[in-house]
Amino acid sequence: MKFFLDTADVNEIREAMEWGLLDGVTTNPSLVAKTGLTFDQVLRDIVKIVPGPVSAEVTALDKQGMLDQAHQYADIAPNIVIKVPLIAEGLKAVKALTEEGLKTNVTLCFSSVQALLAAKAGATYISPFIGRLDDIGVDGMGTVRDIRTIYDNYKYPTQILVASARGPLHVRDAAIAGADVVTIPFKVFQMLVKHPLTDSGLQQFLEDWKKVPQDKKPEGGV
Ligand code: E4P
Repeated sequence: MKFFLDTADVNEIREAMEWGLLDGVTTNPSLVAKTGLTFDQVLRDIVKIVPGPVSAEVTALDKQGMLDQAHQYADIAPNIVIKVPLIAEGLKAVKALTEEGLKTNVTLCFSSVQALLAAKAGATYISPFIGRLDDIGVDGMGTVRDIRTIYDNYKYPTQILVASARGPLHVRDAAIAGADVVTIPFKVFQMLVKHPLTDSGLQQFLEDWKKVPQDKKPEGGV
């Protein structure tokens, strides 16, 4: 399973890259707005750090406007993935971008039938927003499972990118559901490694290690 970081903050991206577990990055207009930088600057900074896919979202609402923005983003680096909203004009844009050979991430997906449309349009990734579904009392992970079944039934190559993940359980359940990718905020990324029994176990081992007689260093040794 691939891990993407859901952020536009280069410090977070740099730190996560050092772990050696990061496969890519997703951004959105809200995340970019938090940086106080231009979108162009943010993208250029991120692609210097991340060799994997970096999603950049179009803000135009018509196919031609989306394509124009997509071409500007794609000129920045070859690993830019064009993020397109799941609306009719977006699907038209995805079809055209796919025919051009550009990679796309269809975002703001809230149902499995929307995901079916994105796959038919040729999307590289589909982003079901599970946290926002859970927020309104809909089973977000159930939607992911349905998408998995539909894509497997018809062998669609579109990758399921679980988005709007709010915690480690979403990551676990996305993996169990067979999602291809999960994108997570840095805070969640840090939580994944944590377990109180790991911390207390390590503390105990270190305490006990102090009781073990240590070999003497040889005379004159370093
Ligand atoms: C994914 O591509 C989106 O940027 C993101 O996961 C949305 O998450 P949120 O619902 O926490 O804003």
